[in-house]
Amino acid sequence: MRPNAAFVLQIKETTVTTTPRITVDPAIVEQYLMTMAQFGAHGETGVWRTVYDPQWVAAANQYVAWCQDAGLETRRDAVGNIWGKLTGSEGGKSIVSGSHIDTQRPGGRYDGILGALGALIAIRTLKEQFGQPKRTLEALAFCEEEGSRFPGAAFWGSRAITGAIAPDDPAQTRSYADETVVDAMQAIGLDPSRILEAKRDDIDAFIELHIEQGPILEQAGLSVGVVEGITGIRHYVVQLTGDANHAGAFPMDLRRDPMAGAAEIISGVISTAHRMGRPAVTTCGRMTVDPNGPAIVPRQVTFTVDARHPDPAQRRLLYSRHEALIAEVAARRNLDVSWYLTHDLQPIICDPGIVSLIEDAAREQGVPCMTMTSGAVHDTQRMSEISRVAMIFVQSKDGRSHTPDEFSSIAHCTAGIEVLAAALYKLAY
Ligand code: GLV
Ligand code: MN
Ligand code: MN
Repeated sequence: MRPNAAFVLQIKETTVTTTPRITVDPAIVEQYLMTMAQFGAHGETGVWRTVYDPQWVAAANQYVAWCQDAGLETRRDAVGNIWGKLTGSEGGKSIVSGSHIDTQRPGGRYDGILGALGALIAIRTLKEQFGQPKRTLEALAFCEEEGSRFPGAAFWGSRAITGAIAPDDPAQTRSYADETVVDAMQAIGLDPSRILEAKRDDIDAFIELHIEQGPILEQAGLSVGVVEGITGIRHYVVQLTGDANHAGAFPMDLRRDPMAGAAEIISGVISTAHRMGRPAVTTCGRMTVDPNGPAIVPRQVTFTVDARHPDPAQRRLLYSRHEALIAEVAARRNLDVSWYLTHDLQPIICDPGIVSLIEDAAREQGVPCMTMTSGAVHDTQRMSEISRVAMIFVQSKDGRSHTPDEFSSIAHCTAGIEVLAAALYKLAY
């Protein structure tokens, strides 16, 4: 549903309309989203589609087929990113839009895939309504963003495009099931030794459409937001090691119990983020316990700490507090401790010129919107290393995401794609 009149008050006055009305067919949006949701369908509304798995291959093939159907020059690069190009009459660097086609384990039907499909639908719609652009437009499906199969391979697609994959990364990066990226790529016919060929240095602007994954747009009664900045993130993997012992016979005061240490650290880091207040966030989402039995004091506990803040100084403070707490608890409990990072991504500010161009595009399409910061991280952050960037958010129901309960209405998704199409029109026609 489009927002009601009360929210139109938030919109700056329109003086000149420069973008023609662009109409995206909601039936195609629904058909494409629901078809993709079948590749890796998990329960009633979930999707479990990790990079290079058979469901991912099926989704990638479908994306290629739709790009070809739209008359786009279609290719897969060395890591399996898919590009659908509409060449402009004046050439020059490309204007690119897209998002990732992998999901969490399980995730929902919208995270990532909406932006991959939205780019394709927007470019297809522009081609149908206005023909060849002056500037080259490209729709992009990144192969991987979530790190849900290979925790060290998060942003695999955008890292390949920006040249941020080191030659030995594919062999060094292991999945939760202990496969290497090399094995997974080779199993589907990709050659990891060619990854450098995926690097691009000819992208002028990148816009990612994505679901918001939080409650702000719903609370504001808006379909669409324009992202001005994206939070910074670190993923720590923390390992505490003590001594496995009998749960009945071994006295409490003699134990080196890593579970007790993990419980204290997890509770402490989460409280730290609470005390610092919004927008600091800390999550411990994965834990492995070895051995994992009710009557055994474990020998080793390994857990993740995902900690984010969009302000560089506050982010450093959050991390130094977390690290101090981990070290202090481990020392007091006589546990061996180690940690390493699987991601460490700086916050970014989006390109102010593209942000205001998207705001203009939204206004001209009659779609009220607001500017906002992203608390989720995105391929856009990586793409900012080689291109001007911005993002468009679409309202999420109840702010839910990274769960099968994730939902965005077709009306909100269509409004987001129309704004994207209008922004691409302004940049390319
Ligand atoms: C992206 O999926 C994130 O975790 O923010
Ligand atoms: Mn995403
Ligand atoms: Mn995600």
